[in-house]
Amino acid sequence: MTADNLSNCEIVGGHRPPLQQDTHDSRMRSLFRTLLSLSVVHWLTSVGVVLTTASAVVFLALLFQPSSNPYFGIVVFLVIPALFVLGLLLMPLGFFLAGRPRIPIESARMSRLAWAFAFATLANAAIIGLAAYHSVGYMDSKEFCGTACHSVMQPQYVRYQASSHSRVACVECHIGSGATSFVQYKLAGVRQLIRLTTNTYHRPIPPAMNRVRPAKEICEECHSTDKVSEDRLKVIRHYGEDERSTEKITVLLIKVGSKIHKAHFNRNIEYSGNAPDPQTISMVTVDGKTYSGEGAVPSGVMRKMDCMDCHNRSGHDFETAEGAVDRAIAEGKLDRSRPFARRDAVAALLGKSPLEQQPAAVQQIYSANVYPAMSISWGSYPNNTGHDKFPGCFRCHDGQHSTKSGDSITQDCGACHELVATDEQNPKILKDLGIQ
Ligand code: HEC
Ligand code: HEC
Ligand code: HEC
Ligand code: HEC
Ligand code: HEC
Repeated sequence: MTADNLSNCEIVGGHRPPLQQDTHDSRMRSLFRTLLSLSVVHWLTSVGVVLTTASAVVFLALLFQPSSNPYFGIVVFLVIPALFVLGLLLMPLGFFLAGRPRIPIESARMSRLAWAFAFATLANAAIIGLAAYHSVGYMDSKEFCGTACHSVMQPQYVRYQASSHSRVACVECHIGSGATSFVQYKLAGVRQLIRLTTNTYHRPIPPAMNRVRPAKEICEECHSTDKVSEDRLKVIRHYGEDERSTEKITVLLIKVGSKIHKAHFNRNIEYSGNAPDPQTISMVTVDGKTYSGEGAVPSGVMRKMDCMDCHNRSGHDFETAEGAVDRAIAEGKLDRSRPFARRDAVAALLGKSPLEQQPAAVQQIYSANVYPAMSISWGSYPNNTGHDKFPGCFRCHDGQHSTKSGDSITQDCGACHELVATDEQNPKILKDLGIQ
């Protein structure tokens, strides 16, 4: 079929008299010819037909292929469906631009054409539905969040895999359920994509306390505030700077349920700060009382305290050099029979000596926690659950946050834990309990 005989509207008659008794074959052939000729009324329509057909075939062929390559998912679930829809849009656009082609089609053909259109529309709807379903699922997968589009979040992905929430999808904490939050977060995603492509995003990405959803809608979907946590015995192992990297054990009875959670749950504690996860807090209010820090000038917005103000790193915690080395020794991954194993490992991690001379375990600690491309270094993301490595609880419980009448937020060591043993080599309590 050429443009010439199209303009002559050859498609109307074809080579047969219109009212001939059609065999099935010839009917199909003429239908096909009709569709073909419709598809060349304008070059945009032709491009649309080719795009849609090709992407449908490729999409269906690749849909169930397993692949671990993150870019495979982007292509199959985002690029190909986009081309498919683009093709679908180009077809009517072509018709429109061509001006309504005068194709007098007799009614039998018209009805066949209508059937063909109905069938094609159904097939398209099915393909779009399938693609949309899989795309949304794919965009919500942790592979997508952590690796594909979100290579800038690869550090969080790595740390997340080492967290106790590694089975909780990123979106369960960051997006949650419901159409509104979905749209809201996809719009934020578009903004982020623009930042990403224009290379104007912050490095490191700032803490997101102001951007995650309220704890009630995420954490409390799984953790009930009605169920009281037990107080628990926590055994913390540190190792010395000495030649033998001597073990020093601290044992705490942390009053999780009896004090800590009880004191903060279901109370309206608000604080001011001018960053998403402020490390200095100037003012705290509770039950009509206001505690102000030393020389505090109330600043920024007030935030209602919830789970995330203490458990801010529950999704992806970055370690400190000292903490990571202590953990590696305690877990038997780093051998401390090597002289000064602990001291030298920490020095190398902090850049004070060459890292290459250190055992593989030390180098792994480095690559899991330090990301120069994202300007993430030791301490970029403080953890608020304690007060040893970062201010944490002491942002408020420093004994300096007081009311006008002189009450202060307690810094009494016994309020939060009993120190059963501090930096001991063989704490009696562990012997009594039969713990090594
Ligand atoms: C258990 C809940 C939880 C999960 C699961 C989770 N996050 Fe987060 N995420 C948070 C919280 C809470 C913050 C805010 C941290 C802060 O402000 O200190 C955050 C902050 C972030 C930030 C801002 C930078 C930072 O580290 O503070 C990024 C980026 C991020 N998350 C990405 C991810 C990615 C990618 C995944 C999945 C691989 C993920 N998150 C899984 C809770 C979670
Ligand atoms: C989809 C369910 C789910 C959601 C949502 C969830 N968690 Fe968890 N969380 C768990 C499970 C399961 C565990 C136990 C993991 C284990 O024992 O290894 C856990 C463990 C914990 C722990 C103890 C281990 C640790 O890392 O210290 C804390 C604290 C915690 N979650 C806080 C939170 C906070 C805060 C949020 C909201 C930002 C949250 N969780 C959201 C399921 C969830
Ligand atoms: C005032 C700070 C603070 C707040 C607010 C807070 N927690 Fe905790 N939570 C802690 C501390 C401290 C621990 C003990 C940590 C440890 O053992 O190292 C803990 C322990 C836990 C554990 C582990 C309990 C266990 O038995 O092992 C879970 C789960 C948990 N919190 C969930 C939550 C949830 C959910 C919320 C919000 C509803 C919340 N926390 C709010 C400080 C807090
Ligand atoms: C944003 C400020 C803030 C932070 C951060 C904070 N708290 Fe509190 N905490 C308070 C306030 C306010 C009270 C209640 C004071 C009052 O009743 O007047 C309180 C009370 C408590 C109490 C009860 C004290 C008592 O004697 O009854 C405990 C225990 C406690 N907090 C533990 C913690 C722990 C553990 C952390 C860190 C993981 C922490 N808090 C972090 C503000 C904070
Ligand atoms: C507001 C609550 C609170 C107060 C007050 C408090 N602590 Fe703690 N402390 C904690 C929490 C929570 C942890 C556990 C952090 C963790 O899970 O690793 C901790 C951990 C510790 C550790 C172990 C640190 C490590 O990693 O080796 C020591 C030691 C300690 N506290 C000493 C003290 C002393 C001494 C005081 C009194 C000046 C005090 N604490 C006051 C909440 C508190």
